[in-house]
Amino acid sequence: MQIVNTISQLQNILLQSKNEGKKVGLVPTMGALHDGHASLVRRSVTDNDVTVVSIFLNPTQFNDPKDLERYPRTLDCDCKILAQCGAQIAFAPGVAEMYPTPDTRSFSYPPTDTVMEGARRPGHFNGVCQIVSKLFQIVNPDRAYFGEKDFQQIAVIRRMVADLGFSVDIVPCPVVREESGLAMSSRNTLLSADEKAIAPNIFRILKESKTLGMSLKDTESWVVSQINAIDGLDVEYYSIVDGKTLAELQEWTDSDDIVGCITVYCGKTPIRLIDHIRYK
Ligand code: PAJ
Repeated sequence: MQIVNTISQLQNILLQSKNEGKKVGLVPTMGALHDGHASLVRRSVTDNDVTVVSIFLNPTQFNDPKDLERYPRTLDCDCKILAQCGAQIAFAPGVAEMYPTPDTRSFSYPPTDTVMEGARRPGHFNGVCQIVSKLFQIVNPDRAYFGEKDFQQIAVIRRMVADLGFSVDIVPCPVVREESGLAMSSRNTLLSADEKAIAPNIFRILKESKTLGMSLKDTESWVVSQINAIDGLDVEYYSIVDGKTLAELQEWTDSDDIVGCITVYCGKTPIRLIDHIRYK
């Protein structure tokens, strides 16, 4: 596997592959890789001739400087994981390489980027669109892989791709979970043993909420009260939405795409955990 730090080096390598008619898959990441990321990389390696994995802790998508500061950084270990997964290229640029001048572009795709995470993390999805659009322009991949773990992120990126006319297939990949049911996340390494023990209740309760037979709004309230009843967990929001537009729903409809999205604060620090469940 080649590890490259500059855009020009990356593009030189890719030019040759593309001239040979090879298909290129891109997996954007912020590093601190775990099995969730690895599942995306393996999928891309299966689907494409060349897999580029970007490792870039993108400062423009962090609305909380403390979150950026404590985000785990594990580049050497990340590269070992990527080589094991069969990726051909790890692209790990510095901030000045990706942002030679401040990025002043703004993106707006309501309601996908205004509800839920969009409302609670101002500027977050704008930063995601800034970096993902740059990566698409630099790599020009045939396919790009994103985890459903960040359910809302995929909806925003799909809108951006349609808006800007990128000719890339967005491939959504299922959430990879710990045995306990906790969705894998780079931030999980920041949880204490006690916090790790209570966090799996989030997905357990989400799963149980599918069996209730209550109205949509009562189901939302039930989830919030069950999770808040656990010492150390504090729900920021639980919202049952249309799986494509992410518009909030008031009652169950006959749509076949209904998803509940949750953010929970866990522990004293606290660590912000996100998850979701598909009702239909
Ligand atoms: P990051 O949090 O590093 O995640 C990179 C990719 O891995 C995202 O598509 C995310 O949804 C996916 N992923 C994370 N945990 C997963 C899990 N448990 N199961 C399946 N997939 C999982 O998301 C970002 O980085 C950034 O916003 C990025 C798109 C790279 C832009 O900076």
